Amino acid sequence: MDLQSLLSRMTFEEKVGQLIQCNAYFFLASAAEITGPLQELGLSEETLATVGSVLNFENADEMRAIQTAHLERDPHRIPMLFMMDVIHGYRTIYPIPLALGCSFDETLVRDCSKMAAKEAAAGGIQVTFTPMVDYVNDARWGRVMETCGEDVLLNAVMGKAQVEAFQGGTLADPETLATCVKHFAAYGGVQAGRDYNTVDVSEYALRNTYLPAYRACLDAGAKMVMTSFSALSGLPAVANPWLMQTVLRDEWAFDGVVISDYNAVEELCVHGVAADLRQAASLAFENGCHIDMCSSAYANHLRSLVDDGVISQAQIDDAVLRVLRLKEELGLFDDPFRGGACLEKEERVCADPAHRALAKKAAVNSAVLLKNNGVLPFSKDVERVAVIGPFADEKAILGSWSCRGRIEEAVTVKDGIAALLPHAEVTAVKGCGNEWYDTDRSGFAGAVEAASRADVVVLCLGEPSRYSGEGNSRVELTLPGVQTELLQAVCKANPNMAVVLFNGRPLELSEVDAAAPAILDLWFPGSEGGSAAAALLFGDENPAGKLSMTFPRSVGQCPIAYQYFRTGRPKFESAVDEYQPFRSNYIDCSNTPLYPFGYGLSYSRVVYESLDLDADTMTASGSITVSVTVKNDSDRAGSDVVQLYGCDEVASCARPVQQLLAFEKVALAPHETKTVRFTIDEPMLRFWTPKNGYASESGTFAVSTGYADHLMHTKRFTLTV
Ligand code: NOJ
Repeated sequence: MDLQSLLSRMTFEEKVGQLIQCNAYFFLASAAEITGPLQELGLSEETLATVGSVLNFENADEMRAIQTAHLERDPHRIPMLFMMDVIHGYRTIYPIPLALGCSFDETLVRDCSKMAAKEAAAGGIQVTFTPMVDYVNDARWGRVMETCGEDVLLNAVMGKAQVEAFQGGTLADPETLATCVKHFAAYGGVQAGRDYNTVDVSEYALRNTYLPAYRACLDAGAKMVMTSFSALSGLPAVANPWLMQTVLRDEWAFDGVVISDYNAVEELCVHGVAADLRQAASLAFENGCHIDMCSSAYANHLRSLVDDGVISQAQIDDAVLRVLRLKEELGLFDDPFRGGACLEKEERVCADPAHRALAKKAAVNSAVLLKNNGVLPFSKDVERVAVIGPFADEKAILGSWSCRGRIEEAVTVKDGIAALLPHAEVTAVKGCGNEWYDTDRSGFAGAVEAASRADVVVLCLGEPSRYSGEGNSRVELTLPGVQTELLQAVCKANPNMAVVLFNGRPLELSEVDAAAPAILDLWFPGSEGGSAAAALLFGDENPAGKLSMTFPRSVGQCPIAYQYFRTGRPKFESAVDEYQPFRSNYIDCSNTPLYPFGYGLSYSRVVYESLDLDADTMTASGSITVSVTVKNDSDRAGSDVVQLYGCDEVASCARPVQQLLAFEKVALAPHETKTVRFTIDEPMLRFWTPKNGYASESGTFAVSTGYADHLMHTKRFTLTV
């Protein structure tokens, strides 16, 4: 397709249409029905006929109907682009990204993304608003569930894996989706963890911590970028020239399509940085935002902005060409239905049993065993199992952003256990609710009775799925309602029990940890959550997940992450659990988290035997090989994530006390010993300073293994650059 020639034949209004995204319902409703919302947006029916992209449609047949009607009335037959949030599955739902991060398994993330792309493409989707790689360190923010965790490297690796797997080798392949990296930038830094709040972080933090994961996704070929809702240093992202021009365009040379977040162009007026919609359109467009998602700013004001010379025709053409190029790459000009997306095909593709098997595998590998005093794994040779708690027989375990996932198709914990143990009597008792206002204890008696009659008890607690995700921030991180009391009562009745947790964020679990003999965190595990829980609890599978995000002892420690910086007054190690006056600590709480990043137990006993370097000096062109030897000192086969941490001991700026440099998940047969080798080279040791930009500095580096705050076998080498 000669896109330049196509462009030259388009009217100005047709060009502007390519820069507008609208909700599907505008295209489906009758003329009478759309009059209201259309008028509210100030859009005309004529404008609607030119619109270039759509979001939030129901299924492939709906897409087909919208696309067909559009092509019939578009003189150039330019297909529309169909976009959706395919975040952790389409119809078959795998665990939330924060949970998938705990697998530390890049291959698994690739497999899940490929499966989601296949289902979603059959459902008529062409672009997914994923990956979300916002750096996070505050569990109060409900959107932490959408990232792969608090680590820069882990987020970058998983983000890249998602981009590559969703997009495949070529977007001409109809089983792929184009990806849109979000939310550029630093949305995860919202103050006090309150969604949509302002962000104010230093350039040092931005360049070292917040920006690298977006960059990794763009280097991997992501086609689109979505701007953040939040303001950074006083300017909302969509109108922030430092982010959008200096970094994204000038430094990173991004040549794809930038889209605003939902209504974010119009919200420039609400932020108070645009006096009216026209100015909002001008700020966003001039700043390089090509598509206006669901506001009427571009539709109504780009014309006058060009007429008045504020925006040039060339800028409009550049934006339109980017959109057309993406449509061409997706093969839409040749096949606007990409491989014949239709409902019958969608149903068939999504019904593939291999997809459910992968969802179970992902849920098994994303679960983290937080505590085990030896009760787990339970013997399968039991007669009576009591599954208690608000999540005992609950199907709403898909998690937020579950796209076309159907709650009724999810496997509950009770059903998973009943399927695994057909000979056993498996009873479910709710006991209490899980909302913050649920204070009714009248179900405790029944729960206690069921617990005392059972051989083993599985207590399923957590926060409702809609407590995390967009717009859902919390100031308390404890289990909502009276669930902790239920736990205490049930433990007393039968200590042969384990807690299974459902959560979209790290929770404050000090009381749960004190009472429960075992805790298995499933997060929001997706369609096969119950079968994964059963397999893990009764020993068919061995937990191997490691936390992708720190669990604080108290919400007052937030923001908290493992990658903290040195201070001039750290605590004296000798009395680390005591309050130390005039040191950096709290009077009423330890500095340490309850469960740190990288932590997670298994049924095997893995021993870290040694860490060796093949040299103790390195130059800029050289490298050092680190060998970490691990041993499975048990009769149980299992896996472990070997983590390599580094610390730049003296630098021109304070550096984190520990930073993940590399990781590798290894399978270990009973009593097997393995040596994992990592290569450290100079680019891995670079960081950003105002004076030197991205560079490494000569000096001593410490490398260790273990996990955050529990490092071991530390060795040192010197870098000379
Ligand atoms: C708003 C969310 O912030 C963003 O992540 C999402 O992609 C869009 N809505 C579209 O659903």
